[in-house]
Amino acid sequence: MPQPAAIILSVAVFSAAAFWLDRRSRDWLSLGGERAIAEMRRDTIEIARLEPHPEKLAAQFEKFLRDQCQTSYAALLVDQGEAHTAGRLQFAKNRPGYAALAEKGWTTPESLLRRRSTPGLDDLRAFLAEHSLGLMVASPRGSPNPTLIIALGTKTNEWPFTYPEVQRLQNIAELMDNILTRSRLTLQAAVRARMEHLAMMSRGLAHDLNNLITPISSFLVHTDGRYASGSPEGEVHAAARRSVRIMGDYVREALFFSERLTPRFERVELGRIFQEVCAVTATRAAERGVAVVGVPEYDGPVTADSVLLQRMLANVVGNAIDASGRGQTVTLSATLGRSGFLCLRVADAGCGIAPDNLARIFDPYFTTKKYGDDVRGFGLGLTICQKIVQLHGGTVAVESELGKGTTVTLNLPLAQSA
Ligand SMILES: Nc1ncnc2c1ncn2[C@@H]1O[C@H](COP(=O)(O)OP(=O)(O)OP(=O)(O)O)[C@@H](O)[C@H]1O
Ligand SMILES: [Mg+2]
Repeated sequence: MPQPAAIILSVAVFSAAAFWLDRRSRDWLSLGGERAIAEMRRDTIEIARLEPHPEKLAAQFEKFLRDQCQTSYAALLVDQGEAHTAGRLQFAKNRPGYAALAEKGWTTPESLLRRRSTPGLDDLRAFLAEHSLGLMVASPRGSPNPTLIIALGTKTNEWPFTYPEVQRLQNIAELMDNILTRSRLTLQAAVRARMEHLAMMSRGLAHDLNNLITPISSFLVHTDGRYASGSPEGEVHAAARRSVRIMGDYVREALFFSERLTPRFERVELGRIFQEVCAVTATRAAERGVAVVGVPEYDGPVTADSVLLQRMLANVVGNAIDASGRGQTVTLSATLGRSGFLCLRVADAGCGIAPDNLARIFDPYFTTKKYGDDVRGFGLGLTICQKIVQLHGGTVAVESELGKGTTVTLNLPLAQSA
């Protein structure tokens, strides 16, 4: 073949190959290189701007990564003490692969093929294979204690992740890590500020109210029986006693927030707490014809404040009873949650919560219940629960569908540091 023809042919072959390779690399991101990173960073920041809640934000980041990275699986594993977890996926810190990943900062099944066998790398290989992962990156880079690990499934086109793709993901992982950390701190600060505000309001209100109702209450006690029952005076007297009792309850509930509470952590028996919660809510349940059932599936060691734990569960079970119809059942359960956490759940098949109300149920004094019938309804039950959860370093989440029912999930650490 003459030389110019050979050159033209090689250029044509090379261009075709380059075009094909370029098309393949476009699979991962619509654009290559620096511009792709800039666009992904911009999109990531935009998602964060619209979603302030850290857990929902993590779920949106996962969806974004699935869409962008040509994979049907993406998980953000966050530090939960003994392991990094995302849903059911757990990557324990004490497994040899953890240190190996932290040291290198990323791994793919293909990069491990080229490396000699060590306990750490073998463990990583097994973890990737077990969960069909195509790429894992840890953030921050080079840290022995990463705060975030991103795991991607294998690509839908079955090609391996390339090194430039790994670098892009590392870049995005660090951005997501920073944003999630900030989002969590902002949420914690907001809950703390709300509790402090509530404490200040409650202190003033509850103490003054308490002083004012004490003489009325004593008067009513001393005049009890003076008026014939059924007479107009007798009825007014009974109504006044009921109102004063309600005011007393109200003051006690409000005072919960004014105290600087220090939980008394001790080893608790979940079985006993469940029994007590059922006993405390039995009258309410019987009146409404609702059954409350629950035996803890997990009844191992838990350190918590037993009085507060019981109060928290009684509040949530009480709400579930109020929401249920005659003949329905409220289920209380305890299982081992994500690593190092206890997962308590209260589920009902009652009226559910309207989406507009769902955003407000933890607000102090938000209630849809009318006081005056047999149902309490200060709108403080869930605010109190949120404070108890906060005192234990846990989280609370509520899922609800109108007409179908509600599930409240309380995640509490199994152990408390001194
Ligand atoms: N399981 C549930 N099903 C339906 N709605 C619920 C449920 N749990 C809570 N809610 C809604 O959330 C509101 C706030 O609940 P919260 O426990 O804070 O106050 P409350 O029950 O109204 O009054 P309190 O607990 O002070 O007696 C309720 O009024 C109700 O509208
Ligand atoms: Mg309540």
